[in-house]
Amino acid sequence: MAEKERLDELTGTREDLASIKNEAFSTVESCRTQEDIEAARVKLLGKKGLITGIFKSISGAEAEEKPVIGEIGNLLRELINEGLQAKSETMAEEALVASLAENEVDVTLPGRKTALGHKHLISQVIDEIVSIFLGLGYRIETGPEVELDYYNFEALNTPVYHPARSLQDTFYIQREDPEHDNSNDILLRTHTSPVQVRVMEASSPPLYVISPGKAYRRDEIDATHAAMFFQVEGFAVDKGLNMGHLKGTLEVFVRKLFGKDRKVRFRPHFFPFTEPSAEVDVSCFACDSAGCSVCKGSGWLEILGCGMIDPNVLKYVGYDPDEFTGFAFGMGAERVAMMRYGIEDLRVLTENDLRFLRQF
Ligand code: PHE
Repeated sequence: MAEKERLDELTGTREDLASIKNEAFSTVESCRTQEDIEAARVKLLGKKGLITGIFKSISGAEAEEKPVIGEIGNLLRELINEGLQAKSETMAEEALVASLAENEVDVTLPGRKTALGHKHLISQVIDEIVSIFLGLGYRIETGPEVELDYYNFEALNTPVYHPARSLQDTFYIQREDPEHDNSNDILLRTHTSPVQVRVMEASSPPLYVISPGKAYRRDEIDATHAAMFFQVEGFAVDKGLNMGHLKGTLEVFVRKLFGKDRKVRFRPHFFPFTEPSAEVDVSCFACDSAGCSVCKGSGWLEILGCGMIDPNVLKYVGYDPDEFTGFAFGMGAERVAMMRYGIEDLRVLTENDLRFLRQF
């Protein structure tokens, strides 16, 4: 550095100034912290500092010495300034590196897994059932869980004396209005079939509808009964629909849900709102109809109730039963899930034990 060489040259003959120079440089060199640098700045460049001392000495010096001392002072001041500046920058850099090292992130470590939730088994089963019917051209409709007696029973051809209306089976809701008190005309729907009536009332055929939702019954809770459960209702109203269409539809459905090798059996049954009515069994997929614990030895598993919509129901919604016919079916989602996965107690579906839920 040119300034440094010039300074050394000038101080070569001035031992007093050479020692000031050496002291100044070693002071700069010994700085370890920003505070050291500030102290050095005061000591070397301050009003009472070494450099000021050099300039003050000019007045008492020999005339030819004056410019030499002045140049030494200037060079030294410049070099000290540069030295302190450089020191300060190096320190800041070292501090940054140290703090980065302290907060070091090891980017090669495997990430922490965030547990992602998923749909409940029942929702999965419902989605699957519904999507099969969406594939067949059905549309989704839903209805209220708090329902009128009219939709849950009366318009479904279920007369007042029908045992299904019993207080033992149905949750009735009391009106606040004392005029209607205890009239038992509001209830928690006992099945999803009222959606049939509501949709028929609000629109006209052709109708192909699938309707998932909750239903409620005053059942004693045990391994196969719950006070609240899920059903999936399906129905179609069109010109010329007959039992063959119902059977064909449900056979396609059962094979899509349980596998193409499943056999389907229709057993005569009774529902007030369908005529004729049937219950549908599927050949046991656990033993292929040989008889096992899943099907309790019968080789068959009951999966749903169905039938041709009773002409009386069509009349209730103002349809002409001579022009339109329809079929309907309803199944319990818990039942399907239990059959599918060999679950023996439906209470595990609502206990929210993650060890159970995570398996699906
Ligand atoms: N609603 C009937 C039940 O809950 C099932 C069903 C639906 C039967 C549609 C026939 C037609 O058991």
